Amino acid sequence: MSSEIRIITLPKIEDYRGNLSFIEEENHIPFKIRRVYWIYDVPGGEFRGSHAFKETCEFIVALSGSFDVVLNNGVREFKFNLNRSYFGVYVPQMIWRKLENFSTNSLALIMASTEYDESDYIRELSEFKAFLQR
Ligand code: TYD
Repeated sequence: MSSEIRIITLPKIEDYRGNLSFIEEENHIPFKIRRVYWIYDVPGGEFRGSHAFKETCEFIVALSGSFDVVLNNGVREFKFNLNRSYFGVYVPQMIWRKLENFSTNSLALIMASTEYDESDYIRELSEFKAFLQR
């Protein structure tokens, strides 16, 4: 698995009937997909996330609408505005991540490398910083 935060552009099959994009695990994204979840109906001004994962890597796509993904690796902050369904951001493990600035009717699709496990979360920023010092 790659440890580098990056935007990944997905295949886009353009067609007069409508466009088509797709994702293949371990091909377009550098991990096997163990879980897919999505965030929707986010009220104006709300944010999601604001935590890190010890093991989980994720790939986040705005299937509809737009939102910002704010990432921090303990050294610097990265901010990506996701607003198209043919690209997304790869988030390696041990990155503080927050999703914010959701537009009306936005839909965030998230592919994860692990099944849901609350013990993989780091929910306190101070704990995240302490982990990075190790
Ligand atoms: P959480 O990941 O904390 O949401 P966010 O970081 O976007 O605010 O998840 C919110 C709740 O949903 C939490 O109680 C755990 C539960 N949950 C699952 O049961 N399975 C999942 O795959 C995810 C992502 C969350």
